[in-house]
Amino acid sequence: MQNRIVIGSQWGDEGKAKIVDFLTLESDIIIRFQGGANAGHTVIVDGVEFIFHLIPSGIMHEDKMCVIGNGVVLDPKQILKEIADLKEKGIDPTGRLKIADNAHVVLPWHIELDKLKEKQAGKAAIGTTGRGIGPCYSDKVNRHGVRVGDLLDEKELRPRIEDIASFRNKEFELLYNAPPIDAEEVIKEYLDLGNAIRDFVCDISGFLSESIKSCKSLIFEGAQGTILDVDHGTYPFVTSSNTVAGSACCGSGIGPTAITQAIGVVKAYTTRVGNGPFPTELNDEIGEKLRDIGGEIGATTGRERRCGWFDAPVVRKAAVVNGLTHLAITKLDVLDTFDEIKICTHYELEGQRVDFIPSQLSKVGRCKPVYETMPGWNQDTTKCREWDELPLNAQKYINRLSELVDVKVGMVSVGAWRDQSIVLDME
Ligand code: GDP
Ligand code: IMO
Ligand code: MG
Repeated sequence: MQNRIVIGSQWGDEGKAKIVDFLTLESDIIIRFQGGANAGHTVIVDGVEFIFHLIPSGIMHEDKMCVIGNGVVLDPKQILKEIADLKEKGIDPTGRLKIADNAHVVLPWHIELDKLKEKQAGKAAIGTTGRGIGPCYSDKVNRHGVRVGDLLDEKELRPRIEDIASFRNKEFELLYNAPPIDAEEVIKEYLDLGNAIRDFVCDISGFLSESIKSCKSLIFEGAQGTILDVDHGTYPFVTSSNTVAGSACCGSGIGPTAITQAIGVVKAYTTRVGNGPFPTELNDEIGEKLRDIGGEIGATTGRERRCGWFDAPVVRKAAVVNGLTHLAITKLDVLDTFDEIKICTHYELEGQRVDFIPSQLSKVGRCKPVYETMPGWNQDTTKCREWDELPLNAQKYINRLSELVDVKVGMVSVGAWRDQSIVLDME
């Protein structure tokens, strides 16, 4: 029985949802614990594509429970849309989806402010997803937030919304010359939204602790990636939550002693969407080829993802800050037609070897990636289902990645479909 945390080990979009959906086969409960609708998690089942922003990717398995933990910032309109979309495709999450009453709520001010700040920042913009994530987490930490439970009771909701409206509307007017948002309308709308999600809302911590006691197997589904973590990433070009494995416990209300594995999902190359440093970025035809073959278009914003070679200092850092026990390497098949494949083994900074991506932007900017080149395999891997079926050069490539970051490979993904998975050692 495993309780696994599945974490993005680069800049997000590593294929976490595909891995979570696969591992759900042998689990009972899938929990989102941070981030919000900035996430775009793609699952393909029987040829049908589902993109989840808030609902855990395990929802496709009809006998499994899914949980949105307290660490998530919840946009109630978005979750209702996802529930409706699922129902339209014949999947009813009623009775299988639980939402923490102490998760914070994304309000119209947050979404508006996210966009206003980005516009005002001009060239210094972070390139956010515009989903109100940063402003919502700021209000949470500032103790001005609204929580899911507040939506169920006007006595709780009204003073909180009035509080937020009073200072955010002033901020809109004075700093951005933007029109105010009507607090009364928001109160009415969010009470209605509260009623619509009422049956899903509960105390998650209690539910999970009982589940752990009765030996249920849990998967904590990370969103974003380690180098987008607000503390450990390329600040300020990061998201506003802790994306690392340690966040799973405080974002769901369980203790660390329940966790048995931390699985780092790693693309066989690197991508980033949004602005900020990216040492191995390829602004050439190789980068374009990766983008074309990998279908590297953002699942939330539709923006093109920036592409580059595998960056060991990035994943090495992820191994350390997450305490990774396994790697799940995805999108190996995207490299099937490359004659040569480069790996950044480390950086050089003023004559010194650097093994971990630094936290300071000025340092990252001066780091020069050092590459080694491996021969490609020029063979289709998408039909491989066992390690021995992979071409020898593909095996060597995977082994080299594992050696460079000193974490064993638990599984390899060779396509977006559930069965395009090779399990090596998930114990
Ligand atoms: P997430 O945010 O980490 O869950 O990843 P996204 O869903 O944003 O992006 C991953 C994309 O790659 C999705 O379109 C997946 O369907 C796709 N994908 C996942 N694993 C594989 C794989 O092994 N090979 C290929 N070709 N595509 C994959
Ligand atoms: P998943 O879970 C990739 C990026 C944005 C931007 C920065 C801050 O699908 O891997 P935010 O809206 O969070 O304030 O934006 O973080 N970002 C992601 N990049 N995958 C994601 O999620 C992301 N969520 C946020 O592009 O650079
Ligand atoms: Mg994504």
